[in-house]
Amino acid sequence: MDDLADVRDFYRDFADREAKGESLTFQRWAAGVAQDPEVLELLSGLPVPKRQPNLVFAAARWHGAVTSADPDYADLRTVLLEDWPAVRETILARSTQTNEVGRCATLLPVLAGLEGPLALVEVGASAGLCLHPDRWSYRYVDATGAQVARLDPAGGASPVVLDCTVRGPLPLPAAIPEIVHRGGVDLNPLDLASGDTADWLQTLVWPEHEDRRARLAAACRVVAGHPVDIIRGDLLTGLDEAVARAREAAPEATVVIFHSAVIAYLDEGGRDRWPGIVGAVVQQVRDDGGRAHWISNEGARVLPSVSATAGCAQTGPDFCLALDARALGWSHAHGRHLTWC
Ligand SMILES: C[S@@+](CC[C@H](N)C(=O)[O-])C[C@H]1O[C@@H](n2cnc3c(N)ncnc32)[C@H](O)[C@@H]1O
Repeated sequence: MDDLADVRDFYRDFADREAKGESLTFQRWAAGVAQDPEVLELLSGLPVPKRQPNLVFAAARWHGAVTSADPDYADLRTVLLEDWPAVRETILARSTQTNEVGRCATLLPVLAGLEGPLALVEVGASAGLCLHPDRWSYRYVDATGAQVARLDPAGGASPVVLDCTVRGPLPLPAAIPEIVHRGGVDLNPLDLASGDTADWLQTLVWPEHEDRRARLAAACRVVAGHPVDIIRGDLLTGLDEAVARAREAAPEATVVIFHSAVIAYLDEGGRDRWPGIVGAVVQQVRDDGGRAHWISNEGARVLPSVSATAGCAQTGPDFCLALDARALGWSHAHGRHLTWC
């Protein structure tokens, strides 16, 4: 396998498929990297999971690569070549743990359809922002932009308002469900109160996505003082313990195991095993007389057996949103829209 060619193709693909239409900076940067043998050489010296554009670009920005309305590949190149030891250290020390609170807008219609109260168990929770769906306001609009539903937390409107355009026969949530437990598991749970964690999360948000950055900052303020119970560990082995804690903390609640933008990080063997593992845990809770469900919100190719159950065609590069291994629809990766099948 030719490492250099692999990295080149990876960046070219990222520029054309992922960054295009989302971030002009990342589109130009990735296209620039794909044509730059000197930079490709540096990147191909990294461990494979560390070569991804999201991580490399965030590390470069962390070390001063500037972004502008008319982005220039030279700004990235200079930092990578002149400051490589420091950038490399950041790439190796940190990872892409983007915590996207907007995903709650596409999860809410599924959560609201379950019998409450809910005990949430998020695998790959990052800093746990998606464990607080009851602390945000939601504004659902149809394709014409007309509001079709507005929901606020019990205590009143939240400073974090999630906008989501909906299509298809979506069961609009009538109310925000009651959450009585917030836990999960992550390889590296992030504590928003510690050091520069919140700054790193801000840097992971793509340059042009100012609205997401502002929302992230507001969400961090809202959850301050509301700790969550995230176990440090691998989801393949840590799920049992996280669910046991949920059952102990809230025995009468419905356990909801969920994840978004996580399973792609597993190797192929892990991805193949995951539906069986989570299915067995759900069944165990039910056999014990409890209620449990599994919600997945992942790229279409990540859990192919789940995506294959979709009753309508994938919309663009959207995620497959599913309940108990049955696809319900297609959701924008950051929660901007949802198509219900
Ligand atoms: C892109 S972030 C998504 C965070 C959150 N689910 C969200 O939607 O905002 C992926 C998270 O999955 C975690 N992760 C990746 N592989 C994992 C594994 N094998 N076990 C547990 N967590 C994992 C990472 O540490 C990271 O925090």
